[in-house]
Amino acid sequence: MRLVFATNNQHKLDEVRHILGSEHEVLSLNDIGCHEDIPETADTLQGNSAQKALFVWERYGVPCFADDTGLEVEALGGAPGVYSARYAGEGHDSAANRRKLLQQMQAENNRRAQFRTVVTLVVDNKPYFFEGIVKGRIITHEQGDGGFGYDSLFVPDEYSEEEKTFAQLTQEQKNTISHRGRAISKMAQWLQTATFCRVHR
Ligand code: IMP
Repeated sequence: MRLVFATNNQHKLDEVRHILGSEHEVLSLNDIGCHEDIPETADTLQGNSAQKALFVWERYGVPCFADDTGLEVEALGGAPGVYSARYAGEGHDSAANRRKLLQQMQAENNRRAQFRTVVTLVVDNKPYFFEGIVKGRIITHEQGDGGFGYDSLFVPDEYSEEEKTFAQLTQEQKNTISHRGRAISKMAQWLQTATFCRVHR
């Protein structure tokens, strides 16, 4: 099936294409000529991902999905959460967000955190939601060159003995356990059984 992923983030596109394999063709916003700034004004991950997916559906009328991810840190009461992209303020980049997180966590012993993703898929004008969570902890310094965003600060529980951050894993290793990997796999499973786009004879 041909699906638009409402993003131009190359890391996310690579991850998701890898998970969905050859059964689904994944197009980016650039691929469909969408260069608008899609609003993300909701105060929940579900709300933002629905906003992005419905925006594309309403303008382009193509099956599409969007994700929204938050890093939820226990000691910070779930922050930065839905505000993860703008944690260091509007217009700041991922490096500034990571610096702020390290600074906020300086005196904290409880380093537990999770990434949570909500994916909204819109087909036939209906939204379907898929959630993925990975639990782990925030380390005290950046480690690893791979990945993006907060990857170099997050050690997933599955790699706690080796003390490896997401930024030190292969794409395959990250996809198998990651928040987005889990949410997208649920969507892929659902697409396999859904009958909305089949020709019924
Ligand atoms: P969004 O879902 O693209 O809005 O992401 C929100 C924030 O979380 C951004 O700062 C991203 O860089 C970060 N983020 C999203 N997914 C990941 C991930 O897989 N690893 C690390 N950071 C991520």
